[in-house]
Amino acid sequence: MSNTKRKVMTILGARPQFIKASAVSPFLRKEGLKEVIVHTGQHYDYEMSEIFFKGLNLPKPKYNLGIGSHLHGKQTGLMLDGLEKVMLEEKPDLVIVYGDTNSTLAGAMAAVKLNIPIAHIEGGLRSYDKSMPEEVNRVLVDHIADMHFVPTKSSIINLEKEGIIKNVWNYGDVMYDVFKKNLSLFESMKEKIIKKYQVNYKEFIFVTVHRAENTNNLQRWNNILKALINISQTGIPIIWPVHPRTKMLFKDKKIERIRTVTPLPYLETQILTKAAKVVITDSGGLQKEAAFHGTPCLILRDRTEWCELTQNRYAFLVDDNYRKICELSFRAKLQNNEKIGKIFGEGKSSSKIVERIKKFFK
Ligand code: UD1
Repeated sequence: MSNTKRKVMTILGARPQFIKASAVSPFLRKEGLKEVIVHTGQHYDYEMSEIFFKGLNLPKPKYNLGIGSHLHGKQTGLMLDGLEKVMLEEKPDLVIVYGDTNSTLAGAMAAVKLNIPIAHIEGGLRSYDKSMPEEVNRVLVDHIADMHFVPTKSSIINLEKEGIIKNVWNYGDVMYDVFKKNLSLFESMKEKIIKKYQVNYKEFIFVTVHRAENTNNLQRWNNILKALINISQTGIPIIWPVHPRTKMLFKDKKIERIRTVTPLPYLETQILTKAAKVVITDSGGLQKEAAFHGTPCLILRDRTEWCELTQNRYAFLVDDNYRKICELSFRAKLQNNEKIGKIFGEGKSSSKIVERIKKFFK
C-alpha cells in the first residue's frame, strides 16, 4: 500500500498535547498521510482547549469524545471505551499518542487491544515516583508502544534500563520545534503583551501550579503560597495563570499583589515566560520553555524528569521549601542557554518523526 493511503490517528486531550501536535500534524499532512484527530475531551474549557487549536492552527478534531473530568479510573475507562469505538470505525494504520496524560494511556490501550501499532511521542521520561499519575501512564505506554520518539539522551537510557531498546529514536523535543517555529512571533508581539499585563521586562515573576502533589496536599500548597506572598511583598509583581484545579483553592480569595489570571494561550504564555525575571512552576512543559527562553526556573517539586535542565542549571528544584523559593527567586539571573539546542534537538524533530513513520509503513 502506498504511503498516501496510510491513515494515522492522533489522540489528544490535554493542553500540552495540543502544543506538541501543532508541530507534528503539518508534517503528517505535508507527507501525504491522512490524519484523523480525536480529542478525548479531557480538557474542555475554552481556555484549556479550543484557544490552543485556534492559536496554533491545529485542525479541528474529527471526533470529540467529550469525556471531561472524573476520577482517574473512570476517566481513563470512558476514554478507552470511546476510543475503541472510533478506532474500529476509522481503522487507522497507526495511532500517535503524546506524553503522559490519561488520554495518552487510553489511546495506547485502545490501540494495543486492536493490534494497531502505536507511536509514542515524548517517550522515555521517568520520575521514578509511582504516586504521580503521569509516571504510571508513561511507563505503561512505553511498554506497549511500537515506536518510541524520545526527546533527550537520558530518555534512551531510561528505556534501556527497562529493556526497551528496539525502535527508539531521539530526534529531540517537539515542543522545541514549536518554540523555534514561533520565535519571530514572540519578538513581534512582545511589546504588546508586556503592555497588556502592565509589567516591565525582567521585572516580574511568572507562576503556574497545577500538579496534584501540590494542589491536593494542603501543607505543600500553604508552603508554596506563603513563599509567593513573601516574594510579592517585596514589590515585584507576580502573574499567575490559574489552572481550573488550582482555582478551587483560592475560593475567590484575592491575594494582594499576586495577579491571578485565567489560563493563557500559547503565545501569551511564551512571551510572559521570556519577559519574566524568573518562572516558578510545577509544569513539565513550562520548565523547558523557560530554558528555551533563557529565563531561570524554580521547580516546585523534589525531582524532575527533565534532568538535563537541573544538570545544566537552567532550572532549580525548590520543592515546597519556603526558604529556597524565596532566596532563589531573588538571586535568579538570566541564563546562558547556548547548549539548549544540543539537549533538545535543533527544532527539526517533527519532520524526522514523520519521515520515520513513513519508513515504518514501508
Ligand atoms: C493533565 C495531565 C498532566 C498535564 C496537564 C496539563 C493527567 C493525569 N494529567 O493534568 O500530565 O500536565 O493535564 O494541563 O492526565 N478542569 C476543568 N476544566 C478543564 C480541565 C480540567 O475545570 O478543561 C479541572 C477539573 O476539575 C479536573 C481538574 O481540572 O478534575 C484536573 O484536570 P485533569 O485533566 O484531570 O488533570 P490536569 O491537572 O489538567
